[in-house]
Amino acid sequence: MNSARTVTPSVISDRKLHLIKKCSDQILLSPDNRCCKYLIPYLDSEEGKALSNEDLLTFYQCVRTGIDNEDSGLGCYAMTPDDYTKFGGFFNAVIRDYHGDATGTAKHETDWDASGVGEGGVLDVRKLGFDQELSMRVRVGRNLKAFNLPGKMDQAERIKFEQQVLGAFQALVDNPDYGGNIYSMTPNFGEGVENPNKISDEKYQELVDAHVLFKDMDADPFLKSAGISSDWPYGRGCWQSADGQCIIWFGEEDQLRIMCMKKGFLLNEVFDRLNTMLKTVESIEGIDFATSDDYGYVTSCPSNLGTGMRASVHVKIPNLTSDGTDAKAKEVCNPLGLSVRGTGGEHTPIGADGTVDISPRARLFIKEKDIIEKLYKGIELLMAQENKPAEAPPAEAPPAEVVATEEAPKEEAPPAAE
Ligand code: ADP
Ligand code: ARG
Repeated sequence: MNSARTVTPSVISDRKLHLIKKCSDQILLSPDNRCCKYLIPYLDSEEGKALSNEDLLTFYQCVRTGIDNEDSGLGCYAMTPDDYTKFGGFFNAVIRDYHGDATGTAKHETDWDASGVGEGGVLDVRKLGFDQELSMRVRVGRNLKAFNLPGKMDQAERIKFEQQVLGAFQALVDNPDYGGNIYSMTPNFGEGVENPNKISDEKYQELVDAHVLFKDMDADPFLKSAGISSDWPYGRGCWQSADGQCIIWFGEEDQLRIMCMKKGFLLNEVFDRLNTMLKTVESIEGIDFATSDDYGYVTSCPSNLGTGMRASVHVKIPNLTSDGTDAKAKEVCNPLGLSVRGTGGEHTPIGADGTVDISPRARLFIKEKDIIEKLYKGIELLMAQENKPAEAPPAEAPPAEVVATEEAPKEEAPPAAE
C-alpha cells in the first residue's frame, strides 16, 4: 500500500477545496483557462480525491502557472514524465481538449518520412512566389528519462544535467558533419568548479539577437510560476554547429530543444537535416528520450507533446499587419491552423516591416512529415490572403433627405484599356 495515501484526509480535502474555489472564481473571468476548467472536476473525481498530500503538492506545482496566470490557455506543465499518468485524469482532459481529439482515444504516431510530400519530397517556396530566401526553422522538444523535467530541477540537478549532456555535445563537436561550439550561461559548476564554456553577457545577447539562444526565461510569468525558469541562468546554454544551422538548447522549457535553422527556399532541407541530426544525437551514449505510449515524445508543456515540433518561417505580410499589430494576421491564421508569433519568438512583437513568425499549431496526433507539409500549405493560403486585392470600402449611404431630393450622380465611364 502507498503509505503517502494515509495522510489525514481532512487536511488534503481542505487544500483541494481551496484549489477548487480558486479555480471556480477564476474560470468566471477566464473561461478559456483549461487548467481551471479541468482541475475542478478532477479534484472532485475518485482519482483526484485519492491524491495524497504529497501528490497534491506535486499536482499544485504542475497547475500553479494556470492559477497565477489567468490568461493561460493550458495553464499547466508536467514536473516529471510520470505526471502525465499519475495525474492522468487531469492532463488527459487538458491534452485532448487542446489538441482537438474528440474521440478521447487517439494515440500518437511518429513518422519522419517526408519523401511523399510536395513534389517528390521537395517543398519549394519559390513555387509560392517567393524570390527571396525565407528564414526557416524546425525544432523539437526532448527530455531525458533520467532527469526531472525542468520545472522540478533544482540548481544541482541543472548543473548535473548540463555536465551529462556536455558529453553528447562534445561528440557532435568531434563529428566532422557538425563541429561547432558550446555556449553556456552557467556562472559556475558549484564548489569552486569553473564552467569551461561560460560566455559573457555580450555574447549571450549577440546569440539571442541572432535567434541562436533563447531569451531570459525569468521574464516569462508562465514559466516562472512553474519553476521552469528558476535558478536562471544555471544549466542554460546551447551547442551550435560550425555552419551555424544545427543548434541544441539546454535548460529551456524542455531539457533539450533540438533544431535546424537556415535561410533558403526548400523547407524539406531543414526538416531532413533535423531528422538526420536527431538520429546522430539519439545514438550517443546517455541520450534516452522520455516517451509516452499515448502522447509520443514527452515535453514539459502539454501543447508540445507528440512530435515536440514547431516548424516556422519568418514571412513579411505588410498588408495583414498594416495596423502595426498581429490581430488581423491571427484572425486569418487561426482557421488555417497556424500560430502567429513575433520575430523574437513567443510573446514578442511583430517586426516593424510586417514580418511575423508562422508555424502550424498542431504537434500531437499528427505526423512530423504532415507538419512540414502543413507549413508549406499554410504559407500558400496566408499569402493568398495577404495578396488579395483590398476590398473597396462600402459606399457611404447619403443622408435620407439628400436621397429624396437629389438626382443620383451619373456613373463615370471606366478608363479605356491600354
Ligand atoms: P520555440 O520555437 O522553441 O517555441 P520561440 O518561439 O520563443 O521558441 O523562438 C525561439 C527563437 O527562435 C526566437 O529567437 C525566434 O525568433 C527564433 N525563431 C523561430 N522561428 C524562426 C525562424 N523561422 N527564423 C529565424 N528565427 C526563428
Ligand atoms: N503556459 C502558457 C499557457 O498556458 C503557454 C503555453 C504554450 N506555450 C509554451 N511555450 N509552452 O498559455
